[in-house]
Amino acid sequence: MPVQRTCCGHPFVLRMPPRRFQLLFGVITFIIFSLVLFGPPSAADIPTVEELKETIKNPKLPKVPSVHNPFGQGAHKSPIQPNSTSGDATWFSDWTWKNPFSSSITLDENRAVLPPLTNRPPIYTYYESGKKQDEEVSKAEHALLLAWRRAWWAQGFKPQVLSRAEAQKNPLYESLQRLRLDSKLEMEVVRWLAWGHMGTGVLANWLALPMASHDNPMLAYLRRGEYPILSRVDTLQNGIFFGEKAAINGAIKKVLEDSIWTNVTANKDKIEGLAKDGGVMINLLDKETLDEDRKADGIAFYDTNTIVSKYKSVAEKITNTTNPEGLKSLATLINSHLHLTWQESFPSGVAILKPLPEHTTALTEEAVDIARNLTQCPDSPIVASCPPNRPKCKACVSSSRMRMKLLPHFRNDTTLYTIGSVPHPYTLTSLHYTRDKIDKTFIRRKAERDMWIFAATQEILGSTSSGQRRVVRFKEAVASPRTASHSLWLTAERESQVDLDWIFGFNLPQSSWNGQSEPPVPGPERRPPPPEEIEGVKKPQENELRMEKNRLRKAREAIKSKDRRMQEAVGVVEAWNLADTEAWRFARAWSARRRVERRKWEEEEQGFAGAEKKAGVGGGRWED
Ligand SMILES: *[C@@H]1O[C@H](CO)[C@@H](O)[C@H](O)[C@H]1NC(C)=O
Ligand SMILES: *[C@@H]1O[C@H](CO)[C@@H](O)[C@H](O)[C@H]1NC(C)=O
Ligand SMILES: *[C@@H]1O[C@H](CO)[C@@H](O)[C@H](O)[C@H]1NC(C)=O
Ligand SMILES: *[C@@H]1O[C@H](CO)[C@@H](O)[C@H](O)[C@H]1NC(C)=O
Ligand SMILES: *[C@@H]1O[C@H](CO)[C@@H](O)[C@H](O)[C@H]1NC(C)=O
Repeated sequence: MPVQRTCCGHPFVLRMPPRRFQLLFGVITFIIFSLVLFGPPSAADIPTVEELKETIKNPKLPKVPSVHNPFGQGAHKSPIQPNSTSGDATWFSDWTWKNPFSSSITLDENRAVLPPLTNRPPIYTYYESGKKQDEEVSKAEHALLLAWRRAWWAQGFKPQVLSRAEAQKNPLYESLQRLRLDSKLEMEVVRWLAWGHMGTGVLANWLALPMASHDNPMLAYLRRGEYPILSRVDTLQNGIFFGEKAAINGAIKKVLEDSIWTNVTANKDKIEGLAKDGGVMINLLDKETLDEDRKADGIAFYDTNTIVSKYKSVAEKITNTTNPEGLKSLATLINSHLHLTWQESFPSGVAILKPLPEHTTALTEEAVDIARNLTQCPDSPIVASCPPNRPKCKACVSSSRMRMKLLPHFRNDTTLYTIGSVPHPYTLTSLHYTRDKIDKTFIRRKAERDMWIFAATQEILGSTSSGQRRVVRFKEAVASPRTASHSLWLTAERESQVDLDWIFGFNLPQSSWNGQSEPPVPGPERRPPPPEEIEGVKKPQENELRMEKNRLRKAREAIKSKDRRMQEAVGVVEAWNLADTEAWRFARAWSARRRVERRKWEEEEQGFAGAEKKAGVGGGRWED
């Protein structure tokens, strides 16, 4: 058990003497308490001097001597929350997450305390496929819907694709049927009816995507999920609306009861004009009902006018004989704009964290792979084009593409994106000391404690802070809402990464070239080479790297091993490196929970348009 105390529910951290003394003190206090409250224990309960010594030397292995617990019921584990495990990772979502040691809250060595999941406000889009639609077109449209869902998910929303089924559940649907509108007018009202049935939230066109950094004021406002005034963004026509259920349905009612419908023949021309400029809802509602003064630059809307005026070659493909080609090309264009926008929000580039850089190259391989793909210029049908909401973007060219570097310390810089790979202390010890096997004696005689967290937080905390303080800062860097979108944390033991596309909101480039044979004519989309080694650190030779990989593989096996002696060895390392172990568990649980959240969501949505299944991706990607 880590030494973290709480008083009346608040953690308090004392500048404590070394751990051995804390523990000794704790044990003695315990015994005195027990003696006072319950009288002397029977001889069998009294710890021997040997046991005490062992406990002090090695806090974890033998359990604290079994004296009576004078506080009776205090040892309940915290309740297991639904969907809070994945593979070996398990967690507890709670406001107490900034406690340095999770086990002081969960009373469970393995369970990490994570911050409560942030609420994702719903964003809806309406989609109806044409009646006799070609399968290729459907597939291309589903791919666009998937891109829409993914981009909004990455920005912290809960995207849902609605259809006529939702609209029909709205009691106002019948009044609409009585009006017998032509299909274009009707469709716009049906969209609103579906939205009105779902309630408070955002209604977006499925070609309106978030195209700004995570902290863009417009996106931050929408993310708060409170929309007291029914509004739209004036520059985006009917691309985006937000409001509350009562206001939405009130607005629909107002439109359906408008006097324009009373004499359709007399108002024929006026009614025809309603379809223009954003559609019937906008044209019939006054500013009091539908506000439009919010200036917003965070959303890009690829409506027909925009595509025709800005992206001609894509527009041509779309208009010529209906057009899966064109839609695919539009999807690639949108993906490239999302990627470009992400790159521009981190002007200092991507940092790959590599504390203790000697002998740990194998630990960063995954991170380097991701960083190389992220800093690559995206593939685009119109090279150097900008998203519609940011006409002055900086195009990505291979001579000045996003930078990437290895850093030995975590840097608190919002213009820098950090990819960290957190090793289990067993893995790190094995690699750092270049030892294939680790035993108790080696740990106690030779190994330093908590090397990883000390090195990683050196720049932000100097070299004198305690391990506890460092863990808390680490957790903040990983998970606090302000900075979580600035970094990605992997665990070195996990071999494959799913879901990166949903974390970033776009497809990472997957160029078909492998590292060896680069294309003859290097284009801007060429994958950048791996970053330079940190200054003063020797690049490992081929055979050294092979040995590192070998050790990494063995460490992975050791940590998963069910063998008792292996587990004991891993336990000794964990007890020796409480802060490193905590950081590793936290990072592991953090990404596991993110995967579970996404998986649950995909399961719920799989029957609807734009699901991964319908867009022809995914399937079998969920194994842990
Ligand atoms: C999540 O929990 C619910 C209820 O506890 C369960 O029905 C569901 O299968 C779980 N889903 C996953 C993905 O574990
Ligand atoms: C509709 O308007 C036309 C022309 O103004 C008129 O002849 C007709 O009687 C009106 N119909 C109704 C139902 O009011
Ligand atoms: C689309 O059609 C126009 C004329 O109808 C033609 O000039 C143009 O080349 C076509 N574009 C493509 C990509 O096929
Ligand atoms: C980064 O710096 C800000 C203020 O500059 C501070 O509030 C925040 O706690 C720091 N984050 C970490 C992880 O050190
Ligand atoms: C990065 O790109 C390479 C080849 O271009 C690909 O093999 C690899 O899977 C990609 N990695 C990620 C994480 O997307």
